[in-house]
Amino acid sequence: MKILAIETSCDDTSVAVVKDGTKVLSSVVSSQIDLHSKYGGVVPEVAARAHIQNMIPVLDEALCEAKSTWSDIDAIAVTKGPGLVGSLIVGVNTAKTLALLKQKPLVALHHTEGHIYANWLEDNLQEGQTPPEFPLICLTVSGGHTNIILMKDHLNYNIVGQTIDDAAGEAYDKVAKMLGLTYPGGPVIAKCAESGCQDTLELPRVDLTKAPERNEQGFLEKPEPSLDFSFSGLKTAVLKEVREAEKTNFSKTKKDDIAASFQLAANEILARNLLRAVEKYKPKSVLLSGGVAANTQLKEIIIRELSSKVASNNFYYPKPKYCTDNAAMIAAAAYFHSKDSNFTDPKGLIPDPNLKIS
Ligand code: KG4
Ligand code: ZN
Repeated sequence: MKILAIETSCDDTSVAVVKDGTKVLSSVVSSQIDLHSKYGGVVPEVAARAHIQNMIPVLDEALCEAKSTWSDIDAIAVTKGPGLVGSLIVGVNTAKTLALLKQKPLVALHHTEGHIYANWLEDNLQEGQTPPEFPLICLTVSGGHTNIILMKDHLNYNIVGQTIDDAAGEAYDKVAKMLGLTYPGGPVIAKCAESGCQDTLELPRVDLTKAPERNEQGFLEKPEPSLDFSFSGLKTAVLKEVREAEKTNFSKTKKDDIAASFQLAANEILARNLLRAVEKYKPKSVLLSGGVAANTQLKEIIIRELSSKVASNNFYYPKPKYCTDNAAMIAAAAYFHSKDSNFTDPKGLIPDPNLKIS
């Protein structure tokens, strides 16, 4: 089954053709980074306009690269939300129009489902790895989300941990801005961190585990470790360091040290909670996904910490190009929806910028 998927939830216009949810025949991503980086973040109106300009060429390229015509396509998939409403409208309206015009079934889904299912793409499996098994735990870390999701079966999502303030990628982006670096922050922070010393600053690793409470007998009960995240304390601590440094000599070395210390703290927070979830739910597979999953140090820490709990073949993470937004991951998730005949009526479909995963 060949699915053509469209993803336009933020600032990447992407179309892909994927066979049987696993084999990527084409994955075209038109990045708008150059348009937005001078503003230090995504400008929604600029993003929506660029999606309109990019959509048809990207669509044509994806079909051509997949050596496919419309008669080869069995279904169309699209991100329904969450995301920027102007950006989502372009993708959703394109998908609706094509579904009606080309008489194809339509699957509209949640963006995070795509990030999770990137781990089913053949391109992302390591040597000798078979697809993930259930129950699984997935840490999804992107610019908009930081969730730990327990899946007992396909398309069955139970959020067991989430951020109470910023998403991890958002924290990377904001710290980059404080350091005068370009958007998106993740890759530039990682680059600076390579030359910096990660032990120069003592940055907080906020733990939301509650204080122990007394039980009926008056004894202190050990609280369950929290799986939720908070990055605002870490961000404020970085801001204080930046303000101090600005008073004296805010050298490149100092910036690199701050970047390295922030990266380590953010990644250790993510790995700590993922490990707690693994200890609690004892999953068969552990997955990482989303833009921040492209971070090499994060993967190294998780691999190290998981080594005594999960066999290396049971840890899954996508290649960097499938960590950040792309339509191949949307096609992968859509395949499992279409196996369940979980199709969407194009006439009733509207984008939902605040869509919740269920
Ligand atoms: O998944 P994604 O492309 O878009 C959203 O769904 O939000 O994630 C984008 C986020 C940005 O915040 C970006 O700074 C971060 O992923 N990111 C990284 C890296 N590459 C991208 N964060 C840390 N290290 C990276 N190498
Ligand atoms: Zn994303």
